[in-house]
Amino acid sequence: PEEERKGREISKKVMSGEVIKTEGVRKRKDGSLVQVSILGAPIFIDGKQIGIFGIYRDITDRKRAEEEREFYNSLLRHDIANKLTIIQGNLEILKDTPLNEEQKNILADVFKALEASNQLIDTIRKLHASREKKKVPMDLHEVLKKVIESHTQHAQSNGIEIEYMPMKGKVMANSLIENVFSNIIHNAIVHSGCNKIKIHGGYDEEKKMYRVVIEDNGKGIPDEEKKRIFEPGVKGKKSKGSGLGLYLVKKLIEGYGGRIEVKDAEPKGTAFIIYLPPAD
Ligand SMILES: Nc1ncnc2c1ncn2[C@@H]1O[C@H](COP(=O)(O)OP(=O)(O)OP(=O)(O)O)[C@@H](O)[C@H]1O
Ligand SMILES: [Mg+2]
Repeated sequence: PEEERKGREISKKVMSGEVIKTEGVRKRKDGSLVQVSILGAPIFIDGKQIGIFGIYRDITDRKRAEEEREFYNSLLRHDIANKLTIIQGNLEILKDTPLNEEQKNILADVFKALEASNQLIDTIRKLHASREKKKVPMDLHEVLKKVIESHTQHAQSNGIEIEYMPMKGKVMANSLIENVFSNIIHNAIVHSGCNKIKIHGGYDEEKKMYRVVIEDNGKGIPDEEKKRIFEPGVKGKKSKGSGLGLYLVKKLIEGYGGRIEVKDAEPKGTAFIIYLPPAD
């Protein structure tokens, strides 16, 4: 009945000349219910409305897929995350009991697998959070200053200097944008073997986007690896991480309507170039 009332309202609106796009539930001829997308449009001839035109599309499958995705998502983010915490707690207790060498090695492997699982859930959480969060104008300089400060200690202890040329402007993003810069800077510190990280950029008139360049003077990334570096789980042989860092980075940026590129830096090292849509 509620759907019928809405249906009549749609017809009325279309009769008065409006174009309506919506979703609803309709009855099939056999009486079963079906989820549909509805497009209703008036038909005019010589400026006079002579009728209405409606397209119903069956979206049951799409709706079911959406619901399923959300179910797996929350399963992963909550139920499995909670169980991992219990596993970790019990393993910590086990670790403090007398163990022989073999048992210690096994335990170390289990801890690694646990860490990888936690990383995976954390990445999915962040992507989900970013999708749910509204995009707002964010001051590039404020964000970069904060992220760089949080890495200064770590960089210094590795003999790395971070050179930052302050940037003006606001981009459309949300607080998860910190993860973008943070991951790339962290990578440069732990993977590149550089002694300098340069961060600079500005407004790109041609692309109509803000550009942030984060470059190091380290060992660089072979072209073959560059091609796959943003795929989930792709990492260098020496990496202790999960290979999800740059995957998260790319997904977050794309969520903001931006882009990321990776190039060789001059004369050596790696440059990550990030484009983000302006807020002003
Ligand atoms: N600045 C860099 N210089 C050299 N190699 C890099 C640089 N940044 C990334 N890499 C290479 O790219 C790989 C993928 O990076 P990514 O951040 O996705 O994963 P990770 O750092 O290995 O693990 P995680 O970020 O999940 O902890 C790294 O393992 C490393 O081999
Ligand atoms: Mg990383």
